[in-house]
Amino acid sequence: MAPAEHATRRHITVLGTGYLGTAHAVCLAEMGFEVLGVDVDPARVKVLAQGELPFYEPGLEPLLQAGLRSGRLAFSTSYADAAAFGDVHFVCVGTPQREASYAADLSQVDGCVDALGPLLDRPCLVIGKSTVPVGTAEILAARLARMAPAGSACELAWNPEFLREGHAVQDTLRPDRIVAGVRSARAEAVLREVYADPIAAGTPFLVTDLATAELVKVAANAFLATKISFINAMAEVCEVAHADVTMLSEALGHDPRIGSAAMHPGLGFGGGCLPKDIRAFMARAEELGVEPALSFLREVDNINLRRRARMVDLARELAGGSFDGRTVGVLGIAFKPDSDDIRDSPALDVAATIQGLGASVTVYDPAAVRHARRAHPELTYAGTAIEAVTGADVTLLLTEWREFREADPEELGQAVAHRNIVDGRNALDAARWRAASWHYRALGVGAGATSGTPAG
Ligand code: UGA
Repeated sequence: MAPAEHATRRHITVLGTGYLGTAHAVCLAEMGFEVLGVDVDPARVKVLAQGELPFYEPGLEPLLQAGLRSGRLAFSTSYADAAAFGDVHFVCVGTPQREASYAADLSQVDGCVDALGPLLDRPCLVIGKSTVPVGTAEILAARLARMAPAGSACELAWNPEFLREGHAVQDTLRPDRIVAGVRSARAEAVLREVYADPIAAGTPFLVTDLATAELVKVAANAFLATKISFINAMAEVCEVAHADVTMLSEALGHDPRIGSAAMHPGLGFGGGCLPKDIRAFMARAEELGVEPALSFLREVDNINLRRRARMVDLARELAGGSFDGRTVGVLGIAFKPDSDDIRDSPALDVAATIQGLGASVTVYDPAAVRHARRAHPELTYAGTAIEAVTGADVTLLLTEWREFREADPEELGQAVAHRNIVDGRNALDAARWRAASWHYRALGVGAGATSGTPAG
């Protein structure tokens, strides 16, 4: 993109520099826009302005630094700066689960709109990206029109985000679809301008009403969670039927109507999105009087949580029936690989439960140790995989980082007290580990061959 073209590009603000907001701000600057990222947390703004990412995301930090160097990307804590700077404002703040219910906590979205609205004194488009219960955008649009000095010249659109942690750059620069929930041709035109590059590269651009746009997001996450729990329900059956869920999944995936994505069996889903989104969706369905339509999601959630309990049982079995006095080495603590996110991490849940049941648990993760240590100081943290499994009676693979998938079973075998491993992510080559005399068990695979010696 030539500098002359940059000069004509819009000024965009991104409100909220969490995971989604930071990736969005950085990628918009990469596309050539003038971007101001705004967050109420001064420490976060300071770190970002220095070119450091406050979280782990492959490939994002170099783009952050390039954006800052180019002068097209800056950060601020001031909503007055945001209103003065931008004619397009993206709302990217968090919508976590409420403390005492399944519903989404919208206080950050409300706070953002309430802070920005009274400052909007010229025509602009506010674009919601946060994941919200259907119907939220309609309410916010009315509130914004009431509050903004520019009145109805200040419009609201909804443009949900589908990025996956670990793939943020690719998913933002080349999304697989763009959904534009709009109420006017003007709003649609602005969104087409913002996403001109991916549209030119062939990304489908779907224009909808506000409610449909909100629903696309939660429906997509509900479908993904359902697929994961479906294959994990099959895993439960495989375990008692002495079948192999990994082969089952592979065979099912060849049917193009089913597909192999989100069909990897194991410890199940966690993170800051899927679990809270399906719960908020159920809560919203209840409010709308269509609770039965989504009651299956309760079972999706239950299947998912049962995998964690099963993992604990398998580990106990390999520990000789009790965790008392046992040493357990844990590989992986993030909710998924290539992330340092431990929000609702199945791995961390399992590790903490086993420690609570009397074992001495030592954990290693390539990125998430810092966060995990703060949340669970009772666990022991190691600097390497070898250190984590040294003296272990049982080893657990809980997050399938590449480093663990490619680990040498002989090298790890030298360090442990007993060669017992539970592969919680069906990520290891079972034959290779068994050949190295490990007693290898996996979620969703009937007991089968057992070549190691249970501790005790
Ligand atoms: C998810 C969605 O995939 C994104 O499309 C969405 O934008 C995002 O939530 C969001 O709402 O912001 P993410 O949470 O980054 O993205 O993670 P996923 O890659 O979907 O994985 C979610 C969880 O499911 C992880 O714990 C992962 O280990 C697990 N998983 C995933 C499985 O157990 N099996 C699978 O086959 C796939």
